Amino acid sequence: MNEAEETPEAANGALAPRVFSGIQPSGGLTLGNYLGAIKRFVEMQNSGIETIYCIVDLHAITVWQEPEKLRHATRELCAGYIAAGLDPGKSVLFNQSQVSAHAELGWIFSCVARIGWLNRMTQFKDKAGKNREKASVGLFSYPTLMAADILLYHATHVPVGEDQKQHLELTRDIAAKFNHDYGVDFFPLPEPVIEGTATRVMSLRDGSKKMSKSDPSDMSRINMTDDADTIAKKIRKARTDPDALPSEAAGLEGRPEARNLVSIYAALADTSIDAALQQVGGKQFSQFKPMLAELAVEKLAPIAAEMKRLMQDPGHLDAVLADGATRAHRIAAPIMERTLDIVGMVRAR
Ligand code: AMP
Ligand code: TRP
Repeated sequence: MNEAEETPEAANGALAPRVFSGIQPSGGLTLGNYLGAIKRFVEMQNSGIETIYCIVDLHAITVWQEPEKLRHATRELCAGYIAAGLDPGKSVLFNQSQVSAHAELGWIFSCVARIGWLNRMTQFKDKAGKNREKASVGLFSYPTLMAADILLYHATHVPVGEDQKQHLELTRDIAAKFNHDYGVDFFPLPEPVIEGTATRVMSLRDGSKKMSKSDPSDMSRINMTDDADTIAKKIRKARTDPDALPSEAAGLEGRPEARNLVSIYAALADTSIDAALQQVGGKQFSQFKPMLAELAVEKLAPIAAEMKRLMQDPGHLDAVLADGATRAHRIAAPIMERTLDIVGMVRAR
């Protein structure tokens, strides 16, 4: 039997839940990636749903990457995934470029998406900045590849940080337009999963900017590989205001730096902002910061140590990714085959 015939033809509701998400190997992992994405990836894996987690190396090269650094960052991200609790026996873990159908479906979606849709993407505007004419074409069409990542697996749920919401909406638009134009009910419309108390972790130096691995100031972020002293120093120097902490979430209004540190604290402690404030409300930052540093070190140091250990055996990490790629390909191949058939490409029978 042709593999394509085994593919479910439809669509939402009828499909079993399947989770897909990805992170770019464009530098080290930050606390933002951990709280906004990876922690959620682990919870979803452990809830027993089918989970597929990708290292999106093709996305990373939309801005220049030194080849050797890219290879290193890919292995380090794989180590980060595993150290944070992803289990290659339970989740499919792989790097995007090893499953060529991502690029293939990305091309088809670049013919479905409209330039006007991509023109509205705020991430492109932020990343391209004033130098738009000099940005790569890939940076502009980035969200079409992201849609391909997700829809290639007929994924139904996508855990991401707040900043990816617009890309998820575009993914749904692409799926809907494809289904409409070709008169099929083939691609499901995936749901973003943006949950937790830290879906947007802000820079430690500026409460109005996202914590990012590409910020020029290392003091702006906590890296997953930072040692205990570095974490404590960064938190001690984090920007704050002169007031004591409020005892309810409403009191954080108009205090972005205070809100950020309390959100980080609550997310690390697996509790809500209100519950965290019941504990720390009324304290000055001079009292709260050491508590936050201690909690951050307690939660992050074991992950950093495990990452370091895993990085000593790159061959093992490469084998994990190769095995994941084989399993990912098995899921993707019939969906890709059926897509080409729907579009009208002549295929060998
Ligand atoms: P990236 O590092 O841009 O590939 O992002 C990978 C994942 O981490 C995405 O789901 C992002 O939404 C999430 N993420 C990145 N930075 C942050 C942040 N500062 N706060 C919350 N989530 C974030
Ligand atoms: N665009 C995401 C980011 O920058 C990374 C990404 C690529 C992704 N493909 C994806 C996230 C598919 C979720 C699903 O953070």
